[in-house]
Amino acid sequence: MVLKKPAEMSQKSTDITWHAGSVTPADRHKITGNQPCVVWLTGLSGCGKSTIAMALESALIRAAHLAFVLDGDNLRHGLNRDLGFSEADRTENIRRVGEVAKLLADAHIIAICSFISPYRADRAGVRRRIEPSAFIEVFVDAPLSVCEARDPKDLYKKARANIAAGNAMSFTGLDAPYEAPSNPEVHLKTAEQSVEASVAAIMSVLVDRRVISGAGA
Ligand code: ADX
Repeated sequence: MVLKKPAEMSQKSTDITWHAGSVTPADRHKITGNQPCVVWLTGLSGCGKSTIAMALESALIRAAHLAFVLDGDNLRHGLNRDLGFSEADRTENIRRVGEVAKLLADAHIIAICSFISPYRADRAGVRRRIEPSAFIEVFVDAPLSVCEARDPKDLYKKARANIAAGNAMSFTGLDAPYEAPSNPEVHLKTAEQSVEASVAAIMSVLVDRRVISGAGA
């Protein structure tokens, strides 16, 4: 029997109805000044995703825009605490986070998502759930050798030692794959550019897409 991955499972509940409220996107826009948007940062562990996500959030809040970071490590303490790093668990991780990001975007909060999200199909699945102009995929690109040299949590070191001892670790870049985006909206090279330059590159796309106004951004 082939087990279905969670994202491919069909909806289980029946007899459910969609309830629409009377608050319109324009009402929400009046309060937040933002258009709905999901900024999706993908890349290897240690590539700089979380640092850029937090810096982007700070820059947006300073400019009086509502933004909120969903971070892989953080969400695995709560919402996704039941998930590990198998392919199926990562797919379910990204599916859940995509749904949360959509809810934030629907509330006109800029959702900044920072996840390795190694599978192209999973990222495409989130993109399909969001308005095309409201999904901004950011490839946070740094060579594995650079990420491994940074190794802020000693995770590569531990994973390498375990793999050398014959244990499977499902560690992205070592014994689990990373599928780089082929056509991201933003391509950052963090071994060469500063955090400030990375944030500025994303901000400029947010202005171009009219998610935020240029003034004061
Ligand atoms: S994802 O692949 O499902 O998108 P996610 O971004 O939520 O991953 O979590 C990645 C974080 O978990 C890494 O930054 C790292 O701190 C930690 N981690 C622990 N084990 C692994 C592993 N086997 N592979 C990758 N990251 C891991």
